[in-house]
Amino acid sequence: MAKPRSSRHPARKSSSSTMVLTLLLMFSFVVLILLALGILSMPSSSRNSHKAHDLTSIVRKTSDRNGADGERGEQWVEVISWEPRAFVYHNFLSREECEYLIELAKPHMEKSTVVDSETGKSKDSRVRTSSGTFLARGRDKIIRNIEQRIADFTFIPVENGEGLQVLHYEVGQKYEPHFDYFLDEYNTQNGGQRMATLLMYLSDVEEGGETVFPNAKGNISAVPWWNELSECGKGGLSVKPKMGDALLFWSMKPDATLDEHSLHGGCPVIKGNKWSSTKWMRIHEYKA
Ligand SMILES: *[C@@H]1O[C@H](CO)[C@@H](O)[C@H](O)[C@H]1NC(C)=O
Repeated sequence: MAKPRSSRHPARKSSSSTMVLTLLLMFSFVVLILLALGILSMPSSSRNSHKAHDLTSIVRKTSDRNGADGERGEQWVEVISWEPRAFVYHNFLSREECEYLIELAKPHMEKSTVVDSETGKSKDSRVRTSSGTFLARGRDKIIRNIEQRIADFTFIPVENGEGLQVLHYEVGQKYEPHFDYFLDEYNTQNGGQRMATLLMYLSDVEEGGETVFPNAKGNISAVPWWNELSECGKGGLSVKPKMGDALLFWSMKPDATLDEHSLHGGCPVIKGNKWSSTKWMRIHEYKA
């Protein structure tokens, strides 16, 4: 009677160790398949070995949005500088949106002014020779759409934005290097300091008209478009205007102190016409 019991025991032992072995085998097999499919990956140190300040290597593609908002073309964001923090978002606006903004602004263009740093009031100036106009925030569906897209990209709420400014530069017109932040009390009463700027190019410019950052850190001649830049453009890190592209830069560092690397100017247009639109974003709600 005791015999079957004693003979069953070794049998059970061997079957349970076979089971453990089988499970181990199956597990390693699954891991191998996952590795092969690229779902799992081995840790590797080579991935994080990008050179610092190599402006040409920091390109990242975003997914295509399948033309949900008109023919915007392929969109991707390029980091062009960390000091100042500056990014180019390619094909941010569609051609239709660019043309719409220009048509809206055209009848209302006035000579541009600059802020007097002593009084805080607007004044005429030779350092800024463009003409421009403001479009009220949220004035129509197309503008609201663009303003929401700006908020999505910058993570700064629509309410913190000033109205869009549309600017026109003809041959010879320019904006000397300046900061977008204020150094007076008057201009920060509504909305506080300016934190970031999104500059949208509404037209191509045949020659000149670059946005230049004379204080940017890094190898300014490493940009792929270096040979196409005007003399003024070679005076710093430059972005060539291209219809639909947007340039985002921050006037503040992450610790909310003012970033002097954000000094920027509009180079004189040498050939063609430059149309652009600017969104300034404040640290608080800006009461429009
Ligand atoms: C800057 O970049 C250019 C173009 O890539 C290169 O020829 C030059 O050697 C670089 N200069 C420095 C100081 O790294």
